[in-house]
Amino acid sequence: MNVVMIGSGYVGLVSGACFAEFGANVTCVDKDESKINALLNGEIPIYEPGLDELVARGVAANKLSFSLDLEQAVGEADLVFIAVGTPTRRGDGHADLQYVYAAAEEVATYLKGYTVIVDKSTVPVGTARQVSRLVSAANPDADYDVASNPEFLREGSAIDDFMRPDRVVLGVESERAEASLRELYRPLNLIEAPIHVTNLESAELIKYASNAFLATKISFINEISQLCEKVGADVHSIAKGMGLDGRIGKKFLHAGPGYGGSCFPKDTLALIRIAQEHGCSSRIVESVVEVNASQKARMVSKIREALGGSEADKTIAVLGLTFKPETDDMRDSPALAILPALADKGAVINAHDPEGVKEAKPLLPTTINYCDSIDEAVKSADAVVLMTEWNQYRGLDLARLKETMNGNVFVDLRNVYEKGMMEEAGFEYCCVGR
Ligand code: UGA
Repeated sequence: MNVVMIGSGYVGLVSGACFAEFGANVTCVDKDESKINALLNGEIPIYEPGLDELVARGVAANKLSFSLDLEQAVGEADLVFIAVGTPTRRGDGHADLQYVYAAAEEVATYLKGYTVIVDKSTVPVGTARQVSRLVSAANPDADYDVASNPEFLREGSAIDDFMRPDRVVLGVESERAEASLRELYRPLNLIEAPIHVTNLESAELIKYASNAFLATKISFINEISQLCEKVGADVHSIAKGMGLDGRIGKKFLHAGPGYGGSCFPKDTLALIRIAQEHGCSSRIVESVVEVNASQKARMVSKIREALGGSEADKTIAVLGLTFKPETDDMRDSPALAILPALADKGAVINAHDPEGVKEAKPLLPTTINYCDSIDEAVKSADAVVLMTEWNQYRGLDLARLKETMNGNVFVDLRNVYEKGMMEEAGFEYCCVGR
């Protein structure tokens, strides 16, 4: 099958490389010439474990190529995926669909033979239908169907999520479109991955509802973590005790500094807007967003308290900046809310992150010192704040750490360490909800 992936960002590149691995002939098209040139030179513009090898394998097998020429690629395609960005529109929280619609109109004029145009980007309910209207208006003779195939990839484990999905959601309106998409995903039959076929609007809403529900679990446990601190309960144990109930499930119940990233913050806001537009309330999701913001603020107070009530002139070593490990993505990372608040009050911040420093620099105060090693970051620090649970930070040499630091405060915002062990090693230890 010939597949075109429009947009060589995170979703487009991962999906394109994975479809090529499935055996499809994939052309990734992007308007950004420098990006395409870099990809043609074997350079991967994002950090995602395993993606470089997967891309290289696809290219070597002649299954994956990169091009600026949309016309030629679309002319030969059975399926055209739209995987362009849908940033939050400035000011109103709506997903900005201008790139999706521009891509649809351009594709329309290049269609040859029956083609399925598939929305892969996370888009508000009704977008696929609007794409269909635009294509018909631009090319009334086109033989096509529109489909919605949302992605459920997590950064850092996107390839595994693609290859071993919990489900594939197909929003379709015709048997032809369904057959074409089923054929593309056929390699997943071997592992019996469920294929959930539904209509366009349901597929679009499944994506938002899923992300909002996962965000709800996180805000829920974060709120409980606050109560745990007051009553002397342990949030880890609470999450375990809850999660053993199969109806609840143990995943996404880790308390921490609040969720971040390019998806939950954007998609919860977009869902609230979609509900508003249709005259529906979304009080639960609104609370989820509020609780998340207050959790980040609560982390600032926690660090301040651990430092004896003031962070002024204290040196804080921050381990981890990205919103989660195994990514260089800084979008809506809790660090972006927590570090400026500390720096504002006069803290000296030494930050370390294995992959995120380049992305972090333009987003954080210029006073922050970036360090190449953990040792450099913790040298003479009054406190260490573990912000992101990178593997490098899970097995710190505690004796050496204690010796290198000036103080002995350890604030563990990801609950990686055990209190007893840290106190034995001489630290004043605090974490989230334990
Ligand atoms: C999320 C979803 O998990 C994917 O299914 C979805 O496809 C993706 O958004 C998307 O819409 O593209 P992602 O943002 O990459 O994936 O990362 P997650 O692993 O879901 O983590 C999101 C945030 O929640 C991180 O800041 C993480 O630290 C936080 N989190 C997660 C917690 O605080 N506690 C948890 O128990 C789990």
